[in-house]
Amino acid sequence: MSSIIASESSRLEGSIRVPGDKSVSHRAVMLGAIAVGESKIHRLLEGEDVLATVAAFRAMGVEMSGPCDGSLEIQGVGLNGLTKPASPLDMGNSGTAMRLLAGLLAGQAFPATLTGDISLRQRPMERIITPLSRMGADLGATGGKPPLTINPVSRLQGISYQLPMASAQVKSSILLAGLYAKGRTQIRESTPTRDHTERMIAGFTGRSWEQGNPIRVDSGLILRGQKITVPGDISSAAFFLVAATLCPGSEVTLCGIGINPTRAAVLEILNLMGANIEICDQRQESGEPLCDLRVRSQRLKGIDVPRGLVANAIDEFPVLAIAAAGADGTTRIRGATELRFKESDRISVVVQGLGNLGINAIEYEDGMDIIGGEFRSGTIDSRGDHRIAMAFAVAGCCSGGSVVVDDCRNIATSFPGFVETGCSLGMNLVEKL
Ligand code: S3P
Repeated sequence: MSSIIASESSRLEGSIRVPGDKSVSHRAVMLGAIAVGESKIHRLLEGEDVLATVAAFRAMGVEMSGPCDGSLEIQGVGLNGLTKPASPLDMGNSGTAMRLLAGLLAGQAFPATLTGDISLRQRPMERIITPLSRMGADLGATGGKPPLTINPVSRLQGISYQLPMASAQVKSSILLAGLYAKGRTQIRESTPTRDHTERMIAGFTGRSWEQGNPIRVDSGLILRGQKITVPGDISSAAFFLVAATLCPGSEVTLCGIGINPTRAAVLEILNLMGANIEICDQRQESGEPLCDLRVRSQRLKGIDVPRGLVANAIDEFPVLAIAAAGADGTTRIRGATELRFKESDRISVVVQGLGNLGINAIEYEDGMDIIGGEFRSGTIDSRGDHRIAMAFAVAGCCSGGSVVVDDCRNIATSFPGFVETGCSLGMNLVEKL
């Protein structure tokens, strides 16, 4: 799919599931592969990012059957059972796959190279090279950008590390390397980031998860195969939360959505803006909290987004910007420099895209101001960024006209079936090849 034409939609209604959580899916495949025995994963995200992780472990000798209808069976090879891949491992568009795998591969007895698409090859890897090198790893990347070469070393050493930026990818990369290190690995974070790795390592090692700062992993852990059911991805649900909020008369239920507190700040931010979102039937599955979310349309007001919520809503800012554009008054987002290091520079791409649709937005180094208004028709270049593409498709549905979103192919990295799911709720979305 190269473009989407998103046009004025009337009320949205219905009840849907969204695909499995991308972060949880990557981790389930990785830990399943290095566990002892079989793991069965259900509701795995079959998006291109996760499929790249699956392919990488197959290339390192791990037998898997699936994924098929979200089910994947992994014959885990144990911590030291991976084998040297015959060629560079292509992580596609996925920063999570590359950074987490780099940590996991740093402690292997064979060399490996990680590469990716044009967007991934522009993303910063220094943030993992620095701590992994302190652990004794041998990693190389020209100018700090992929491809990333990893050479074997005799033994990694546990470290104590203060995360210099709020990044779960960096934290997880170090924790995975810590499984192979001598002694204890400890990480301190000044802002808590998504904790799926910590929860899942606890599950695979048969311990109950405890929140910690510093976060610790000790050498000598043995991971055993697990059954994991992946919750629905709140980052994918967010597009429909905003679409249903902005399209008058809507009522939509999103079933089985992960609401891990380190991921759910999008709900808090939308609630501060006045949204009507109900959390129903809270439950727990495979160590992660989930629920059904019922959203009804509501006029929103602009807010100053509390800085303390930014890290835990970091992937939702493209669509939160659309919510802000449809709100009364000004929304100010600050403390969000990390948005510049995603699949695109999401501060500049969002501000420019809003401008194309007649919305006043001002770019700052660490965020943006968005002045609520009416979307007019226009064209958006998503720059190959899946979340930019889906966010502006939502804008088109809430406009009085039509928005053409170009370069939508990468929606398949995180949300295969986005257009069909949106249409089933009444969103006016048409794919153009
Ligand atoms: C992710 C962490 C975040 C997030 C990304 C997924 C993860 O990245 O933006 O989509 O699964 O650990 P950073 O660690 O760069 O913040």
